[in-house]
Order: sequence, then structure tokens, then C-alpha cells
Amino acid sequence: MTKALFPSSINIVEVGPRDGLQNEAPVPTQAKIELINQLSLSGLTHIEAGSFVSPKWVPQMADSQQVLTQITRHVDVCYSALTPNVQGLELALQSNVDQVAIFTSVSESFCQHNINCSIEDSLERFSPVIKLAKQNGRPIRGYLSCVLDCPYEGETSPQRVKEVTKRLLDLGCYQVSLGDTVGTGTPLRVESMLKEVLSIAQPEQIAVHFHNTWGQALANVYQALRMGIHTVDSSVAGLGGCPYANGASGNVATEEILYLCQGLGIETGADLERVARAGWQICRQLNKSPTSNVSIALQSQLKL
Ligand code: HMG
Ligand code: MG
Repeated sequence: MTKALFPSSINIVEVGPRDGLQNEAPVPTQAKIELINQLSLSGLTHIEAGSFVSPKWVPQMADSQQVLTQITRHVDVCYSALTPNVQGLELALQSNVDQVAIFTSVSESFCQHNINCSIEDSLERFSPVIKLAKQNGRPIRGYLSCVLDCPYEGETSPQRVKEVTKRLLDLGCYQVSLGDTVGTGTPLRVESMLKEVLSIAQPEQIAVHFHNTWGQALANVYQALRMGIHTVDSSVAGLGGCPYANGASGNVATEEILYLCQGLGIETGADLERVARAGWQICRQLNKSPTSNVSIALQSQLKL
């Protein structure tokens, strides 16, 4: 295999403070702030710092406003947050987020469980969110869940992923992040799904977001990189999961992506040691170990 198959650099969207911590035992606001401050100094350029969803649905994210207003912002870092509706967007704007993200699903059942409406209704709900975000100069990212499998409906059709991705792009998302929410995907299925999506979208309009439940996330990222995708979502220490996808584990660990990219000669701009330190610190707070083998290997090497 030659290096020419891969992009020369990739963008990492660090979702640990949101996707990670939304599905862990609650941690104090100050611990979140310290995590984000540490990650901000690691060379990562996009950190999803919170989520303006209903605190009744996801209490772990109830302090997102405090988090976003108390972090020490680094000029080179984009701090984003999830905003499912105008109510969430208004709170996000008050917290001065740099960018927002809307989220829906390819699966009707997951959509109902996750955001309490149909796919069609979710897209309708996003129109005023996108309009207001644009008026306020905030780029909008879209998330699409269950792009390979749904916890309620089983296998997803790549054709359907293509259709809903197109709807999100047409609505005004600059990029759609394709989520293997349950983490059951394998590289050949990723390839079929991405082939379909890339027939209507440019590679820079697409990101991949793989949960690691069955240990395939890194192989799936490798597959996506080979197909020209150059934005990857990952979570420090492999934290988290989705509260509405029972049993799903965290995203692919940022440390694993950084180590893989080092080996492939792909530039990420981020410092693996600093990310691993931040990961160990938040894991101590959570009273657990990182799920990432790279973090575990680095612990003894660096005495983290
Ligand atoms: P709903 O109950 O249908 O909304 O929830 P509603 O408009 O009827 O409002 C009900 C109550 O919620 C009201 O309060 C609202 O004020 C409040 P009450 O009058 O009962 O006291 N409310 C809010 N409060 C704060 N912020 C808001 C907000 N909106 C309403 N923004 C809603 C609809 C979407 C809000 C709800 O279903 C929700 O919050 N869902 C969140 C689900 C979630 O966060 N899931 C995890 C993130 S998605 C994910 O992890 C997948 C991803 O990682 C990709 C992948 O892996 O596939 C992105
Ligand atoms: Mg996720």
C-alpha cells in the first residue's frame, strides 16, 4: 500500500467533552473545563464542548453554558456544540459558541427515541435553527446517526444514507458527519455506504464518526481515509457513547487516530502525549481507564 492513497493531512473533531461525557457518570463542571483547556493546548483545532439539549433528556450536558463561558479559549480552536432546536441555539449563542451542530438519523425509530420526532419533522425543525445560526455567522454541521445499523431497525440502506445526507447539505450544513452510532460496522460496509454518499457529496463535505463497540472503529476510519475522507470525529480516551443506543461504547479514541496517522505520515497538528495526558486525567475523574490501547501503552512509557 502506498502513501498516495491517503490525504496528506486530516481534521480531527474532538467530541470527547460532548459525545464522551454525555454518556458517562456526571463529572463536575470544573473537570470538564480543565479537560477542554488541556485539549485546547494539544494542537487539536475543533472541540465539541457541549450540548444544548433538554437537561431532562441528557442531564450530563446541563452545564454546557457554564462550560462554554468559563473555558480558556485558544484562538486556533473552534468550540462547537449540539443544538437540536431554536431554544438550544439561543442558549448556544449566549454562550458564544463558534459553530453549532444539528443531528438527525437515517432510522425513524432512532430519531423518535433520540429527539422525539420523525426524520421529516427534524429536518423541518432545523430550518429556523440554520437560518438563525447563519444570521449570527455560525457555520452548521450536521450529524446523521445509524448510517450502518440501527439499534431498533437493524441494517441501514446506503441509498437512504445518501438521501438524508443530501437533505442536510441542501439545508445548509457545510459538512455531514456520518455516525456508526452502535459501532457494529466493518470496513467493507463502510466502503459501500461511503461510495453511495460520495456520489452526491465532495469528500470535504463528509466526516466519519465511528463508535467502537465491536472494536472496528479504527479499521473503519482507515477505510474512510483511503476513500479521501479527511475529517474524523474522535473522543479523547475513547470516552462515551449515545444514551439512546443501549450498549454502544465510545467513539474511536483520539489517541488511536493520532498514532495511526503518525504511522501513515498523515499530518494532524495534534500532540499525542498531551491528548493522552488529558485522557488519563478525565478518566481518573471518572474512576475508569481509557479504552485506548495507545493510552495504556503511553501510561507506562510516560508515567501518566
Ligand atoms: P421534546 O420533549 O420533544 O421537546 O424534546 P419540547 O419542545 O416538547 O420541550 C419539552 C421540554 O424540554 C420543555 O421544558 C422545553 O423547555 C425543554 P418543560 O416545559 O417541560 O419544562 N427543552 C429544552 N431545554 C433546554 N434546551 C433545549 C430544549 N428543548 C426543549 N434545547 C429535544 C426534544 C430534542 C429537546 C429532546 O428530545 C432532546 O433534548 N434530545 C436530546 C437527545 C440527545 O442529546 N442525544 C444525544 C446526542 S445525539 C448523539 O449522541 C449521536 C451523535 O453522536 C452521532 C452518532 O453517534 O450517531 C451526534
Ligand atoms: Mg456519537
